[in-house]
Amino acid sequence: MQNKPQLPGHISMDQFNQMLVAPESFAAKPESLTEQLFVERSLTENRFWLRIMKEHALFLGDGFNRKDTQLIQQTDRFHYYFEQQEKKSYQVPNNVALVRKLNEESIELVHGFRNFKRNLLIMIINCRVSGFNFPLLVDHIAREAEYFMRTLKKFNQGILEPIQDAIINENVFWLRIMMEHSRFISSLMDQSERNLVNTARKFGDDFETLLNQARDVESMLYHKQPTYPIIGKMNKDSENATTELRAFKKAGLDLIQSCQIRSVINPLLADHVLREADHFLYMIHVLEERLNAQKVAEQHMQ
Ligand SMILES: [Fe+2]
Ligand SMILES: [Fe+2]
Repeated sequence: MQNKPQLPGHISMDQFNQMLVAPESFAAKPESLTEQLFVERSLTENRFWLRIMKEHALFLGDGFNRKDTQLIQQTDRFHYYFEQQEKKSYQVPNNVALVRKLNEESIELVHGFRNFKRNLLIMIINCRVSGFNFPLLVDHIAREAEYFMRTLKKFNQGILEPIQDAIINENVFWLRIMMEHSRFISSLMDQSERNLVNTARKFGDDFETLLNQARDVESMLYHKQPTYPIIGKMNKDSENATTELRAFKKAGLDLIQSCQIRSVINPLLADHVLREADHFLYMIHVLEERLNAQKVAEQHMQ
């Protein structure tokens, strides 16, 4: 039976048996993080996200009802703690043990702020807190805190996810963030700014499509055998769309700063979402370099 020439479109018994093996067992294994990369990536993420967390505290504080003095005080305290931790992240020496300790402290601080945001969200949607902090915005910034914690925990474990899973995870997280930024911008702009409102809404729809595509890829390929052309294309599509959105955010920031458009967008918020787009683009580049290095390594093995 097995000696018969194989017909096209038919599979041998061996291949058939292989089809019953869990496809997860063909996934690439996690890589280990070098000490230099651990320090570099940890400091970059701390410096970026600690500032972001500090600003979230400020934005939440601005959005409360003035009678909620306790909540305002709590966000003021978080603002202060994150400012202190941010300063620390610029002073810590390039030493693995000290950077690991910085990561641990940041994780603890962000954990508290994440809980605060999540509890606040429940209170808002139960109408126990009023003001202008939209539920989706609070959920959005809680997800950002969770992402930051996850990232630092992975660094401290010394794990680098397989490149395919890393690209999927980052894209699913960031494309949703970019979609929501576009929609926040469109709803915080004065509705008389018809063109800008429409452009922002269009970006929201484009990112929603990319996000859904990334989720489809996640469903097909997460924890599976490397399929780099598909993964590389997804990363590239995200890069192109985010470069466009970044330019729109930058133009918006300039217009807001020079008071040429009508909106209720705090210039610092406009700058905040611009920096987040830049950080996504930075992540895309880091991932693309890893992907290219991986492809070269696999060519040498063949
Ligand atoms: Fe943010
Ligand atoms: Fe954001």
